Amino acid sequence: MKVTVVGAGAVGASCAEYIAIKDFASEVVILDIKEGFAEGKAMDLMQTASLNNFDTKIVGTTNDYSKTAGSDVCVITSGIPRKPGMTREELIGINAGIVKMVSASLIEHSPNTIIIVVSNPMDTMTYLVHKTTGLPKNRIIGMGGALDSARFKYRLAEALGAPISDVDGMVIGGHSDKGMVPLIYKAARNSVKVSEFLSAERMEQVVQDTKVGGATLTGLLGTSAWYAPGAAVSAMVQAIACDTKKIFPCSALLEGEYGLNDLSIGVPCVLGANGIEKIVEISLSDAEKAKLVESAEGVKKTNQLLEVPAN
Ligand code: 2OP
Repeated sequence: MKVTVVGAGAVGASCAEYIAIKDFASEVVILDIKEGFAEGKAMDLMQTASLNNFDTKIVGTTNDYSKTAGSDVCVITSGIPRKPGMTREELIGINAGIVKMVSASLIEHSPNTIIIVVSNPMDTMTYLVHKTTGLPKNRIIGMGGALDSARFKYRLAEALGAPISDVDGMVIGGHSDKGMVPLIYKAARNSVKVSEFLSAERMEQVVQDTKVGGATLTGLLGTSAWYAPGAAVSAMVQAIACDTKKIFPCSALLEGEYGLNDLSIGVPCVLGANGIEKIVEISLSDAEKAKLVESAEGVKKTNQLLEVPAN
């Protein structure tokens, strides 16, 4: 299993590190445009191999896509991150051109690859890859919901005073502060709905804290978060590499599912060797459906900023 991570910044390097430590890939290639940066990160990570007990080979390259040839999975983290006070959507002007060029270069050397998009605004960047590469839709996946769900579980555990391992919850919809849909009335503490433990007001606070999870960290850090984004995308890569058939909320191209068309947005997906094995249409309450439709309208509005023909 060969994995390429484009972008040796904090998210890309964290992703590469978690993949290496999980030791399911034979090789991870980190590519960056900054001279020597990816090579340095790869070498530093390789010097942890004896300490973290992994055999995965990590290689860095300065913009030489031939080194990525034959990758099974390619993760695109390249582009500029948010600064405090910015929305993810404000990044589209610069990141769209980067993601379009990077995805084309990756596919030239790995025509059978599965692409996972992390760069923001992620749902729109994922849609851009669908519209410009022609890869089968199951092989283009956006990472947002896995991260948002991890933040949701963090906030739920905090509210419940419970260990994270006792908590389950999922966030669907767009990966944006306004567009996320934390499924609070489906969330559970060891199979018991959290509504049996928390007041409506406290559940709403969990929802709001989840939706601004990324912005909260950007305010504290002065830049976008990286540990949880890197961990989220490495978990998706592992599900693909090991064909686990785990369900993750992923940004997937919808063609009628949930009554939505011609956009990529966060919905439950079974991940396996073929990438998105299946889009799972779960039952949603009228309120949840309405929030998903509203979220989709927001994503489509951002998609209109792209210079690609809609269907
Ligand atoms: C986040 O929410 C980077 O969009 C990512 O932290």
